[in-house]
Amino acid sequence: MKNIVLFGFMGTGKSSVGKILAEKLNMSFLEMDEIIEKENRMTIDDIFKKHGEVYFRKLEKDLIKRISKNSSSVISTGGGVVLDEENVRLLSKKGILISLMASEKVVYERVKDETHRPLLKTENVLQKIKEMLDYRKLFYERAGYCIDTSDKTKEEVAEEVVRYVKGQINEDSKSKIRRT
Ligand code: S3P
Repeated sequence: MKNIVLFGFMGTGKSSVGKILAEKLNMSFLEMDEIIEKENRMTIDDIFKKHGEVYFRKLEKDLIKRISKNSSSVISTGGGVVLDEENVRLLSKKGILISLMASEKVVYERVKDETHRPLLKTENVLQKIKEMLDYRKLFYERAGYCIDTSDKTKEEVAEEVVRYVKGQINEDSKSKIRRT
């Protein structure tokens, strides 16, 4: 079974949807930020503070090189993973890529009371989200399938992912039969 790779901006529900998916499909669950925090014994916020974003992106890429060799895993990525072409290429080798989307207002409502996201530690958070989303939208849209999560529960999003993944698996097996 291929990996299911969840891309998406901060606050689109990658981690919580990923957890539900892994349970539903009996797959292992890999939350990238959580793994980076464990391996470095430091929060993402502290890594940014102490070593800066470029260093964090190196840790992210190093982890992707390792986990993209897995199979049957649900991989919840950090929101900036899609900005690096090699990251996307590696994850697509053995993965079905799906982006979770949400409007800037919805993202804002979901993250405004949280304090652990280094890139959102700024005066005008809504404006910052808007700018980042405008820039990143096309990157997220490179995934094979995008789900607007704005008006959906996490369960509904997970069910939509399952439907899409099952469809992809059917397509794969049909094309294998055609080739034999
Ligand atoms: C980032 C998103 C964060 C985390 C880091 C950078 C980004 O992950 O990786 O703060 O560039 O969008 P979440 O999307 O899980 O919040």
